[in-house]
Amino acid sequence: SEAHAFYGAHQAGIATPVQDHLHFAAYDLSPRATREDLVALLQEWSYAAARLTQGLDVSATGAVGGNPAAPPDDTGEALGLPPAHLTITIGLGSSLFSTGDSADSDRFGLAAQRPAGLAPLPPFLGDALQAEWSHGDLCIQACADDPQVAVHAVRNLSRTAFGRASVRWSQMGFGRTSRTSAAQATPRNLFGFKDGTRNVLGTEEDRLAEHVWVGEGDEPAWLRGGSYLAVRKIEMQLEPWDRTSLAEQERVLGRDKAEGAPLSGGTEFTEPDFAAGAIDVASHVALAHPDHNGGATLLRRGYNFVDGTNALGRLDAGLFFLAYVRDLEQVITVQRALATDLMNEYVRHIGSATFAIPPGVAPGGWVGETLL
Ligand code: HEM
Repeated sequence: SEAHAFYGAHQAGIATPVQDHLHFAAYDLSPRATREDLVALLQEWSYAAARLTQGLDVSATGAVGGNPAAPPDDTGEALGLPPAHLTITIGLGSSLFSTGDSADSDRFGLAAQRPAGLAPLPPFLGDALQAEWSHGDLCIQACADDPQVAVHAVRNLSRTAFGRASVRWSQMGFGRTSRTSAAQATPRNLFGFKDGTRNVLGTEEDRLAEHVWVGEGDEPAWLRGGSYLAVRKIEMQLEPWDRTSLAEQERVLGRDKAEGAPLSGGTEFTEPDFAAGAIDVASHVALAHPDHNGGATLLRRGYNFVDGTNALGRLDAGLFFLAYVRDLEQVITVQRALATDLMNEYVRHIGSATFAIPPGVAPGGWVGETLL
């Protein structure tokens, strides 16, 4: 079937085989929104998401079943389209919890339940972060094999939020830059290199339990079965990259361009041999490898983006990096290691956000019910 269940122990859209397209949106709650508004919004989002992921309209009345004198419940552009493996993943930003010391900064009464590790990522060398691509009280990650289906989901969930939360920023992505299933061929990012070779797969229960899901013994209890999401909007300077020799491109990544094999030899899935000397110590793969980061491992689920062309006539393009982890320290460790990455000459991080991803829910339940 082309439909993924919305309900389950974990939210869909993490271990699920990665789809071809993304529409990601970060939301801010209205300054007037109350805790009751937040609860109602998460309930309505969950109800709508359960329908949308099955290829249904946002409500039973839908796009054409309502009063002709009123705006339709559903915007209608997905009428007749299959579910296209749509998943909708809902996240909670650190700003939802207490952000200051004053009594009124804890607007939703959630300060005591804030996960200790949920905070904006610390500054990293070379960051060029822009507020308009960063943070948010809530997020929706909609992934589907048809961009129209993903956009339809975000558009209708944004309408549902009307008066309570509004879109702070959003991002379209294509050409998944990862694989989370052994059946998927490894796709390529906009540097032309295979991306996602050494990812955590959705079928690797042990690795998911160790590196991705908040575990039974982890705090806070309400997040068990959930995860954390780190988002980085990374610009890629494609024109200088395209003028770089093939040998240099391969040195920067530490892998060959044709197969994605480590420069130490073998095929795509051969373990890199860093001792052999063929892989530059400052290559991306050497610096990001778990062996050089105390075992830190990420489930990467990013997408390519092209947002048109900038004032210099260059592609406004890059990688919208999404990583799911059991603890955001895993991302911080790897990102710190990338401070001396040869790739930094060609990339610039312009957006950053972190979210707690609550566990999945049973039919009729709603994402966030364990917290609120
Ligand atoms: C591996 C590209 C940003 C973490 C790779 C690989 C490529 C790649 C081609 C090798 C294939 C693979 O194993 O998937 C890029 C590009 C980036 C980017 C083009 C930005 C534009 C990042 C960031 C992080 C990261 C920001 C972490 C914060 C990793 C990790 C691996 C990896 C953990 C796997 C290392 C291993 O297990 O061998 N990346 N990457 N990457 N990257 Fe990136």
